[in-house]
Amino acid sequence: MPALVLLGAQWGDEGKGKATDLLGGSVDYVVRYQGGNNAGHTVVVGDQKYALHLLPSGILSPGCTPVIGNGVVVDPSVLLSELSGLNERGVDTSKLLLSGNAHIITPYNVTVDKVTERFLGKRKIGTTGRGIGPTYADKINRVGIRVQDLYDESILTQKVEAALDAKNQILTKLYNRRAIAVDQVVEELLGYADKLAPYVADTVLVLNEALEQDKVVLFEGGQGTLLDIDHGTYPFVTSSNPTAGGACTGTGVGPTKISRVIGILKAYTTRVGSGPFPTELFDEDGEALRRIGGERGVTTGRDRRCGWFDAVIARYATRVNGLTDFFLTKLDVLTGWEQIPVCVAYEIDGRRVEELPYSQTDFHHAKPVYEMLPGWSEDISKAKSFSDLPKNAQGYVKALEEMSGAPISAIGVGPGRDETIEINSFL
Ligand code: IMP
Repeated sequence: MPALVLLGAQWGDEGKGKATDLLGGSVDYVVRYQGGNNAGHTVVVGDQKYALHLLPSGILSPGCTPVIGNGVVVDPSVLLSELSGLNERGVDTSKLLLSGNAHIITPYNVTVDKVTERFLGKRKIGTTGRGIGPTYADKINRVGIRVQDLYDESILTQKVEAALDAKNQILTKLYNRRAIAVDQVVEELLGYADKLAPYVADTVLVLNEALEQDKVVLFEGGQGTLLDIDHGTYPFVTSSNPTAGGACTGTGVGPTKISRVIGILKAYTTRVGSGPFPTELFDEDGEALRRIGGERGVTTGRDRRCGWFDAVIARYATRVNGLTDFFLTKLDVLTGWEQIPVCVAYEIDGRRVEELPYSQTDFHHAKPVYEMLPGWSEDISKAKSFSDLPKNAQGYVKALEEMSGAPISAIGVGPGRDETIEINSFL
């Protein structure tokens, strides 16, 4: 059986938790491949609402093995508290597998994230402050700490020393902060070793063997395409690759194994943190989208910036990810508008531009060119099939599909597990 990738087609928060969880019941492995606890998935099961940050949402499906791949950065204290929180609510988490090659977010990475943001002032990225960027920076600088290092005290001490050598200079001399003691960090990290040990595994081998045995493997992206370090709105991005290629490097599964790449696409657009956002609204409509859509960060509690649907971005996501399908979420939030503007192109310095400009300067100057689509006022949350939707809602979906370049195979019409219209099966 195939491997599938499910990823955010915009700036994250598209409602991936609902989509992965919906598929989670029929897949054998749900794998996170990048990011860390900067992500936030809300999953509603019956009358229970779960907010997950680091764990793959498949953890809520009893038949499914959740996997944290090598491309993820892991804050052990967050992982353990997320696990015990679920255990207290009766969720069995014993099947979790954690890659020994995943990098650890250490306390000093969190400190560095916060102080650098403060130092950047108005040029700040607006990070989640969880230490994500500094941990990936350590990985690339080859001074990172990996999960497997927790099981060799001498190696761990040497590595923490190497990492802190330069950082303490910077913290004390540049940022005027206190130096961080190697011993304290090593002691804290060693304290996690036994608790994490039952989960640590050679996840590359496990996943490739699972695929050989025809198991269904679902790769779950965190954040979204426009937050990708290579393909996003750099430098206002996260420090990993949420795009489809990240699923291969972040898990050790080759691209030939992947048969489907599904982009989660919100029926409008949101963004958290700094950076350009052509369709952003600063009026009552933006406020209404925020209120009706519950657009407040699961991880940080920050209000999300809201705007109309941007087809230029959706087309770009189709291209850079090789999307085979879209899962359109939160269509119900748009109920009640008489007319719904959709951005079909940009105007940049007097020119009409159909595709996402590669130049950062151009993107910062991009003004949305809108087409108005007729809205609907009927409640759509009970719709079970495409034909149950009011004509104008059908028209909205069809128009988005045509502009975005891949078929819309599922539509979210409410937050609950069963409030989804399936058009084409993903499996
Ligand atoms: P970082 O990932 O904490 O380094 O933050 C970098 C940028 O990515 C900031 O603009 C964050 O707001 C954004 N970001 C990180 N994770 C998410 C997410 O799950 N949803 C939306 N934005 C995110």
